[in-house]
Amino acid sequence: MVLRLTDLVKTFPGVRALDGVQLEVRAGEVHCLLGQNGAGKSTLIKVLAGVHQPDSGLVEWRGEPATFANPQAAMKAGIATIYQELDLVEDLSVAENAFLGH
Ligand SMILES: Nc1ncnc2c1ncn2[C@@H]1O[C@H](COP(=O)(O)OP(=O)(O)O)[C@@H](O)[C@H]1O
Ligand SMILES: [Mg+2]
Repeated sequence: MVLRLTDLVKTFPGVRALDGVQLEVRAGEVHCLLGQNGAGKSTLIKVLAGVHQPDSGLVEWRGEPATFANPQAAMKAGIATIYQELDLVEDLSVAENAFLGH
């Protein structure tokens, strides 16, 4: 199991964005996360990417419990995130944009 999320909870003032999320991802799998606006998709990715800290629950990455204190820590562990509102550099190719900063 590359990634396992167990009972992940994340609340913001007035809203429980993640309410006990379970997810398992094995090597080589591709998953799509679907949900209406406000469902918590971005929050889930941001917890994985070290942008947000979960209130409770467990993140296991490559078989070990993991806490990513910041995006740099997640990147160092091998978690790459391409955000929806990516600032594209028009003179660069898609691949070059995807690897911007590396
Ligand atoms: N930084 C934040 N501060 C307060 N509330 C937030 C924040 N980020 C997300 N939320 C709230 O959490 C819920 C889930 O948002 P989000 O994860 O962005 O949903 P999605 O990406 O599925 O549209 C929404 O109610 C949203 O308003
Ligand atoms: Mg979103």
